[in-house]
Amino acid sequence: MNVDYSKRKRIMSRSTMLGHCICDPAKPCPCEEFKNFDVCECAGEKMPQIESGKIQIRLTEHVKGAGCASKISKKTLHEILSGLPQFSDKRVLVGSSAGDDAGVVILPGKTGKAMVLTVDVFAPSVDDPYTFGQISAANSVSDIYAMGAEPWCALSIIGFPVNRFPNEIMTQILRGGIDKMREAGIAVVGGHSINDDSVKCGFAVVGICPEKKFTRNDGAMPGDVLVLTKPLGVGIAAFAGQIGHASKKDLDEIAKSMSALNKTASETMMKYNVHAATDVTGFSLMGHLSEIVKNSSVEVELDFDSIPIFSGVANFARLGIIPGAVERNRESVKPELLDLSGLAEPQENILFCPETSGGLLVFMPPKDAEKYLREIRRKGVSSAAVIGIATKKRKGGLIRVKSSSSDKFSPLKMERKSIPQDTKPESGDEAPACCADPSAASKQIAFSASATPISAAFAEYMKAVGAPGAIDAKNKKLMSLALSVATKCGPCITINLQASRGAGASDEEISEAVALGAAFGGASAAMFYKETMQSKIKSMPPS
Ligand code: CO
Ligand code: CO
Repeated sequence: MNVDYSKRKRIMSRSTMLGHCICDPAKPCPCEEFKNFDVCECAGEKMPQIESGKIQIRLTEHVKGAGCASKISKKTLHEILSGLPQFSDKRVLVGSSAGDDAGVVILPGKTGKAMVLTVDVFAPSVDDPYTFGQISAANSVSDIYAMGAEPWCALSIIGFPVNRFPNEIMTQILRGGIDKMREAGIAVVGGHSINDDSVKCGFAVVGICPEKKFTRNDGAMPGDVLVLTKPLGVGIAAFAGQIGHASKKDLDEIAKSMSALNKTASETMMKYNVHAATDVTGFSLMGHLSEIVKNSSVEVELDFDSIPIFSGVANFARLGIIPGAVERNRESVKPELLDLSGLAEPQENILFCPETSGGLLVFMPPKDAEKYLREIRRKGVSSAAVIGIATKKRKGGLIRVKSSSSDKFSPLKMERKSIPQDTKPESGDEAPACCADPSAASKQIAFSASATPISAAFAEYMKAVGAPGAIDAKNKKLMSLALSVATKCGPCITINLQASRGAGASDEEISEAVALGAAFGGASAAMFYKETMQSKIKSMPPS
């Protein structure tokens, strides 16, 4: 690496004079990166392994809520937005109060046309940057398709940790996005980027439609059937992938679906008699459907057994592999809107699963639906299915879901490994606030958020050195486990044992790491490990 020392000196002299790192005022100067790696980020230097292109970055390893699971819950959003000023404006046909997929505004002059506007930004739901860009674009333009409008142009929005990740990753994300937008027939005409702590990407998309011909979420009528054009379960499968439970096939299947445009589903729907439409994204099928039944004042009855679901998802749900966003989605739909009695809990969880770049949910008369389905299936939207019917008018709306297969969704017992996944750390610290965060285990290391600046800084440092770099995640966890045994740290053993398993380490690999730690720590370390394990097993709840 070529270091410009005069530049570094100039910048660091400012930081030391001020007592703050000038690119991150929360950090002291000299910072940990400088002391440990001889890297000055303020001078534009990158970590050495990034510079040499040796680092393998798995995007989802660096996110908490993958894809649309990173949305703020509908309930919280409602609290935040209520009370904000509402202006009436004659040009606005659909405003934010409608809770629709996009805003619709009349264009000046008597063109008879309207402009449709939407923006979506989220965290990676896949590891590959190019695919993430494609998915992000497909997801953003989907709100235009959900309105039955034609996409016209787009702007990109990207957050990127420019000092920690190679530039090439951002190039790939944008390339994926631009390619997907081209497939949708539109140009990305600009954008905005932020040097951010975590990767985020999205697009603001503008569409065009006739002033009087687009789909709202308030036009559903009794007798309409509901067509869903993509399977459910993205959030559950992506979470399973983050914690090492999904196969490559599972992840490829959702990636393919997420990066597919809703173009055919949308253009074809406009040829028929469509009463209402939306796309199923972060707020789940229940969340998005509840908007339609409320705004249209209808009661709908869904048949769970006809809802398309990704192949691995039923099993993940039965095993209890459910991201926290499922709970947020459930809390966001008023209970009086739902009748889910008769469903097994795993089925309910699938209905509240946050989707990323999900399918369209279309209300149309049965005759139209029949032709619509036949046509889109022929054009490649192969998972599309009729999933229910609007039975009658009902003020406030209601969703009833039936199933004759609930016995097939009985919860499965997760194969218990020698330590329960939910063991509390020995220090007596509270469990981490967000249990959906797979990196939460590393935060349990005895330093709570209210700790002193020094212990907080140490926790930060532990997190930084523990993160995968030139050494991959699994091997780092195994090394940490060996060191925990050698240094006889009980809580560390518990955490790193879980983390090693979570990162995919086999029993053989774990026992080799433990043996290595015991070899360096001597007989007392070996005894300590044995005792720790025994007390764990004793404290396990009876199963
Ligand atoms: Co939408
Ligand atoms: Co949206």
